[in-house]
Amino acid sequence: MPASAHRPFVIVTHALPEGWLALLESRSELLAGPADAAGLAPELLARLGEAEGLFTLLTVRVDEALLQRAPRLRVVSNMAVGVDNIDLAACTRRGIPVGHTPGVLTEATADLALALLLAAARRLPESSRDAREGRWTTWSPTGWLGADLPGATLGIVGMGKIGQAVATRARGFGLRILYADRNARPEVETNLDAQRVDLVDLLRQSDFVSLHVPLMAETRHLINESALRAMRRTAILINIGRGAIVPLADLVAALEAREIAGAALDVFETEPLPPDHPLWRREDVILTPHVAAASVHIAERHLATLLDNVGRFVRGEALLNVVDKARWC
Ligand code: GLV
Repeated sequence: MPASAHRPFVIVTHALPEGWLALLESRSELLAGPADAAGLAPELLARLGEAEGLFTLLTVRVDEALLQRAPRLRVVSNMAVGVDNIDLAACTRRGIPVGHTPGVLTEATADLALALLLAAARRLPESSRDAREGRWTTWSPTGWLGADLPGATLGIVGMGKIGQAVATRARGFGLRILYADRNARPEVETNLDAQRVDLVDLLRQSDFVSLHVPLMAETRHLINESALRAMRRTAILINIGRGAIVPLADLVAALEAREIAGAALDVFETEPLPPDHPLWRREDVILTPHVAAASVHIAERHLATLLDNVGRFVRGEALLNVVDKARWC
């Protein structure tokens, strides 16, 4: 049967806004899960054995157990640039290509890194809350004093596309840039006056440390107890990459012991962060709910990239946006 005549059965793990999947619906038999699913909904699990395509959000784990229940699966496409929710080796063993959405959220993610850095440096949540709650009684030359940016040092861990976009913005604020990356980036060093150092030097010298490595075995718990202890007592840690890069128990202990001055986090090892987590009660921490890519434009571009993969799959063509580990920083 020619590829065009075949309507593959595709499972989309979450209901996406109306109209988003029209192209896919016209070319495949589609089953979508509930909008608020935290994983693969039972009604989808029941039909996994028939699925030829699986389109996932980053909250769904595609692991050996799931793949064993999906013997007909020919493609997985993740609506995210990060693919740490997917067991790539298990997919490769079965000859299943994994699509993702690279490049889509570089600028928006870098914008959020700077937004968090500025908000933490200038204590915006704290001063805004104090003012709303009646603690703004007069102007004071010592009220809510924050950290200065010009001349301060920003340490970027992972100088891939997002790290570079963060560095470009940070240069505009007069920050000196250090970076740690397994690859030297001579063009970044020239264009952004950035200096490559090893991770420990970066932690020792930086006033702000921003994490932009993908989550892999080598980066899981990278910023652990000893890394946090290497940071300056006045430093602020920003994590908008993946939660598991920073073990939260170690971070809470470092904040308690005043080994660092604060943190701004958009990602967490467990998402959502449990309501009773001690981080919620801390003044020295800014917490946002994984919103680095949360802009209308990005959502559309995310989807366009996902659908491009889907369209190629239903036409029987090779995927364009397929995971290529060698390109990861
Ligand atoms: C978001 O976290 C993504 O990986 O796209």
